[in-house]
Amino acid sequence: MEVRIFKDKAALSDHIADFVIEEIRKKTSFNLGCATGSTYKGVYERLVKKHNEGRVSFGKVRTFNLDEYLDINKDHPEAYRNYMSRHFFDHVDINIANTHFPPTDEHAEYESYDGFIASQGGIDLQLLGIGTNGHIAFNEPGTPFTQKTHKIRLADATREANSRFFTSLSDVPRYAVTMGIDTILGAKRILLAASGKDKAAIVKTFLEGPISERVPASALKKHDDVVVVLDEAAAQDIERKHL
Ligand code: F6R
Repeated sequence: MEVRIFKDKAALSDHIADFVIEEIRKKTSFNLGCATGSTYKGVYERLVKKHNEGRVSFGKVRTFNLDEYLDINKDHPEAYRNYMSRHFFDHVDINIANTHFPPTDEHAEYESYDGFIASQGGIDLQLLGIGTNGHIAFNEPGTPFTQKTHKIRLADATREANSRFFTSLSDVPRYAVTMGIDTILGAKRILLAASGKDKAAIVKTFLEGPISERVPASALKKHDDVVVVLDEAAAQDIERKHL
């Protein structure tokens, strides 16, 4: 895994936006795996800005989001489709019919998302954040690495972390549907971003510890094209001599 460290969240966001644009330019059509959360707000903001400056078009881009809450009103601002519309889709030239989320219907076959992604040519670049417990997408610690898209019960730590986006902890959804680790490892290229001192401990564990289902992000060591983008605060505990 290649690790790149930037001064702060602004520099990290600039770098990721430029990275995404460069990857999009390489191909005639492009499948982008999208993450939500606070880490990516600045990245989408910059992608929108660069689009407005005429530096990038999303006309040939299809997006596939990692996850979506299940027990949430579809109109709730924190539903991930609404997050994506507000921060990205509504402000660029993407065809909304080309923006995809895991199925959320009660009787949906969640794994069908994997087949759908494969039928579209697979994901060219998957963007990931990381939870303080090591989750990627909503694959909580203990999730088998063989899982495809599936329904999960959110860990208490994840609900507490995400309660900052809701009026109270009891409003935070309990269930979500998420790409599995197997789905994520199917992407051609992966970029994981982490920002802030709250992520420093888990960044050290995932980079320097063993591959273990107790640390879902450690599965990325099984993939041969992963870039880890950190700011100084998230990188503060890692052994620089190995980089
Ligand atoms: C979001 C997602 C999550 C977040 C992670 C970090 O789609 O899949 O894994 O990337 O919880 O969230 P932030 O960036 O809010 O710290």
